[in-house]
Amino acid sequence: MDPLLQAALDARRNAHAPFSKFLVGAAIEDIGGRIHTGCNVENATYGLTICAERVAVFKAISEGARKFTRVAVAADTDVLTPPCGACRQILWEFCGDVELTLVNPRGKAETFRLKDLFPRPFDATFL
Ligand code: THU
Repeated sequence: MDPLLQAALDARRNAHAPFSKFLVGAAIEDIGGRIHTGCNVENATYGLTICAERVAVFKAISEGARKFTRVAVAADTDVLTPPCGACRQILWEFCGDVELTLVNPRGKAETFRLKDLFPRPFDATFL
């Protein structure tokens, strides 16, 4: 198993999802080869929940990483779970047209370019 996909699957086990029970893990590799992970963290107000992908990105940024090569997202679905719209925006802003792999615990995986999941994005080039 690719270490990045394994890291996303492992991070998923830390998910705090008492409301939805839907556990998600994410892992992001930076240009130095370091892997940053995240899981979804839900909140009783629901709206303050943060997805696994954003936890991973913000953890990486907060630790000084700035350039990323690959992202993996893990959930236990047969139709592999893609990032939500908000996470696609954040991934685009911090990772650009990154390679993104979706994986489930049975080892099913599919790889995309973020551009294909998030065409015609709004970003800082418009400001
Ligand atoms: N979730 C993620 O962590 N990432 C996604 O891209 C989709 C949704 C989480 C948020 C919430 O805790 C649960 O999955 C159900 O929506």
